[in-house]
Amino acid sequence: MTKSMRIPKILILGMGGTIAGIASHPELDPLNYEAGRISIQQLLGGIVQKDAYHLKTEQIANINSCDLTHELLTRLVNRVREALVDEDVDGIVITHGTDTMEETGIFLHLTCAALCRGSQKIIVLTGAMLPSNAPGADGPSNLALSIQVASKMSTQSNGILMQSGVIGVFAGRIIAAKDFAKRSSDQIDAPVKDSPELTNSIMSRLLSEEDLSYPELGQSWPWVEIVTNHVDPKPDVLEFLKNQGVSGVILAGTGQGNIHQNLLPVIKEFSQRGIPVLRCSRTGLGVIRHNVSFNDDELGTLAAGSLTSAKARIALELLIYNRLIGKSLDFKKKLATM
Ligand code: SIN
Repeated sequence: MTKSMRIPKILILGMGGTIAGIASHPELDPLNYEAGRISIQQLLGGIVQKDAYHLKTEQIANINSCDLTHELLTRLVNRVREALVDEDVDGIVITHGTDTMEETGIFLHLTCAALCRGSQKIIVLTGAMLPSNAPGADGPSNLALSIQVASKMSTQSNGILMQSGVIGVFAGRIIAAKDFAKRSSDQIDAPVKDSPELTNSIMSRLLSEEDLSYPELGQSWPWVEIVTNHVDPKPDVLEFLKNQGVSGVILAGTGQGNIHQNLLPVIKEFSQRGIPVLRCSRTGLGVIRHNVSFNDDELGTLAAGSLTSAKARIALELLIYNRLIGKSLDFKKKLATM
């Protein structure tokens, strides 16, 4: 049988989320539900055209993704990387809660995109905004399209057929998984409503020169916290973090990543101690550029580009970890590629 005639073998990894959720009164109140209640195997029950694929399922977790941990990220990426080099797996789909999908999206991109390209496989991250028993539940259609994309059997409306990469599928849209960003608590396209659809001109967003290493199970991750700028912030929170030995800080600034003058002296101390401080915007959209609207050179801060604070935190944790294990990394250059 030629490769194009082979039935695609797709590994589906379940992490939980609303896609696996159950509402007690689905007709009356579908958004009042418990996430992570049914298994990934049960979820497949709602998928049509299953015979077109060999589907294998594994449950990595079954949680509400607000409870996501570093340990689960490590378990997930270990299994994904193993599958990327397994000849018996043609593509991977991950079902996940939407609350922290943006963290898992950037994490998988930074740790797997180069291996994806080498193995010419696709990883798809998906989920749902409605629980599995709600009328018009979106999980089955998101999962079905994800399986098609992972099998390289789905072109986008613009005719693109992806061959490799860490992809996000949601509400009929196909994006780079690192572009997930939940911008609404209840809209059906919440995690992708402001995410750019993959087109030829932004296909390069799927590329990465080298995968970053990540802490193995049992190892601790660098401690990175997010601090938000707002009216009259007190420097005490940053002072506390500095004194407790934080490894890095994300400043979710106002507008273009602006930071209140009350915080500037303590921020300068962070950089004098070699603790990276990364500026992004609490607006959640837009690009934060080096030395634009803020003097990064003087304060020793870094600009997070288009990363949201949640994504910037994952990125900074990985960058710090990679530096700790001896990789020579220019954070500024690396951030510019994210
Ligand atoms: C979760 O993130 O697990 C709950 C919310 C969702 O999946 O939409």
